[in-house]
Amino acid sequence: MFIGTPLITEEQIQRKVKELALKISKDYENKDLFVIGILKGSFMFFSDLIRHIKSPLKIDFIVASSYIKDSSSGEVKIHYFPREEIKGRDILLVDDIIDTGISLQFIKEKILEKNPASLKICVLLDKKERRIIEIPIDYIGFSVPNKFIVGYGLDYQEMFRNIPYITVFKKKPNNVQT
Ligand code: IMP
Ligand code: MG
Repeated sequence: MFIGTPLITEEQIQRKVKELALKISKDYENKDLFVIGILKGSFMFFSDLIRHIKSPLKIDFIVASSYIKDSSSGEVKIHYFPREEIKGRDILLVDDIIDTGISLQFIKEKILEKNPASLKICVLLDKKERRIIEIPIDYIGFSVPNKFIVGYGLDYQEMFRNIPYITVFKKKPNNVQT
C-alpha cells in the first residue's frame, strides 16, 4: 500500500466538503437540484458531498476521458451521458480537479446545448497554474500546486484512488520527501 505524506488530510477534506455542501444547500434552497458527477475521479468527493446537501436532489454521472494532444489542446471523449432530461433543470456539475480546464469546458458545452435552467460547477481541487481554458468555477475546495496529485478518487494509472487523503504522487512510493 502506498503511503505518502498527506498534502490535504482526511479531516481537512471532510471539513471542506461540509462547508461546500452548506453553501450549495443555501444557494439551492427550495430548488430541485440535478447533481452530475464526472467519473471516475469525482466518485469519492461526489458521494461525500451529496450526503451533506440538504436540498432535494437527483444524481447522475458523466463518464469522460481526456487525452492531451499538445500543450494547448486536448480531446475529450464522453462514454456515458445522463439519459434524464437536462432542459429546464438546475444542474450542478461535480469534478475532482480542474487542471487545464479542457475537459470541464467540453462537458459544460455539452450540458449547455441541452438548455438547463442553470449550470454551476463544483470542484474539490484547483490546479490554477496549468489552466489553458479559463472557466468560472462556482465552488472550489482547495488550490493545489502544479504537482501530480493522487488519492480521494484521483489516480495515477488507475491506482491510488482509494487513499482517503490527498497526496503528491512520487515515483518511488517509499521515498520520504524532505
Ligand atoms: P483537465 O486538464 O482540467 O481537463 O483535467 C482532466 C482530468 O485529468 C481531471 O478531471 C482529472 O481526472 C485528471 N487530472 C488532472 N490533474 C490531475 C492530477 O494531478 N492527478 C490526477 N488526475 C488529474
Ligand atoms: Mg476527472
